[in-house]
Amino acid sequence: MSKNESRIDNNLVLHMVSKAELISFPSMATIMSLEKKTAFITGGAEGLGQGFVQKFLEEGANVFFGDINEELGKAVTQELQQKYGKDRVRFFPFDVTNGANFQEAFDAAVLHYGNIDIFINNAGILHEGMWEKMIEINFMAMVRGSKIAMEHMRKDKGGKGGRIINISSLLGLKTSYTSSVYCGTKQAVRSFTTCMAETPGLESNMGIEFALLCPDAVKTSLTTQLDDDRLKDYSRFKDIGKARTMPVSMVVDSLFSLLKRKDSINGAILMVLKTGASFQKMESIDLGSEWPIPT
Ligand SMILES: NC(=O)c1ccc[n+]([C@@H]2O[C@H](COP(=O)([O-])OP(=O)(O)OC[C@H]3O[C@@H](n4cnc5c(N)ncnc54)[C@H](O)[C@@H]3O)[C@@H](O)[C@H]2O)c1
Repeated sequence: MSKNESRIDNNLVLHMVSKAELISFPSMATIMSLEKKTAFITGGAEGLGQGFVQKFLEEGANVFFGDINEELGKAVTQELQQKYGKDRVRFFPFDVTNGANFQEAFDAAVLHYGNIDIFINNAGILHEGMWEKMIEINFMAMVRGSKIAMEHMRKDKGGKGGRIINISSLLGLKTSYTSSVYCGTKQAVRSFTTCMAETPGLESNMGIEFALLCPDAVKTSLTTQLDDDRLKDYSRFKDIGKARTMPVSMVVDSLFSLLKRKDSINGAILMVLKTGASFQKMESIDLGSEWPIPT
């Protein structure tokens, strides 16, 4: 990337967050317990998803997770059931791009645990060579999951409310020609989630909050198995990428600092970099008097 391109890129990030409100992480007084809550997580067999599953269990919550990798999902479940108890964690193998299977998995979770309090749309791939599949997994399935969770959580339809967390990326806020479709999907996730957070009555009538996680590079299969087909010019940038990469635990701990806040996290965008984490609310670019759309 030339110096000029890099400057443009940085300006874009600054522009997007310059008016945002920076919010500090919670003090003890504002922390909510996750004990006896139930979380539903997609893509939980490895990487960040597995990190979230384990952390929920450590915090006393129950977890129902899905993954396309049945073998690994079962092995992880067996190990976690031995450690935390059989009833605390359940696995359902399914592909998030199959709408009927996604609904079936969610219904099975509700049948088993009675209620889902936290829903994490985590399953995702980075594979520019399979760009259509990537759009299906990273964006379409994330919309589907959000809608399924909303229907269940809505207090105005008999639900108990809840939090929906969508996993975007730092590439949901920045751009890189090396992963144009991945960036597109992650920016779509960011846009969809912040739009949903603006829904009238979302918090007051439905009791639902939407928040977004945007991590920089994390050491998981997604980054350790990259090649030039998955990421354009990977061989040129791999050393820079490796230097930025952080451990799964850093992202997991940051997300849980946000999740455990008692006060609203609706519309929060949590950025996690190797150097630290911060979260803020996004403001739309000022389009003058034509915006917002009159309701
Ligand atoms: N690793 C990173 O650097 C990084 C950075 C920012 C954001 N993210 C995002 O975090 C999320 C998790 O990524 P990760 O790094 O843990 O990747 P990972 O490859 O380690 O884990 C992804 C999991 O999702 C599962 N999965 C993939 N396709 C699926 C499908 N169609 N249906 C069900 N499950 C499926 C995989 O089997 C795997 O268990 C993704 O949305 C990714 O885009 C990752």
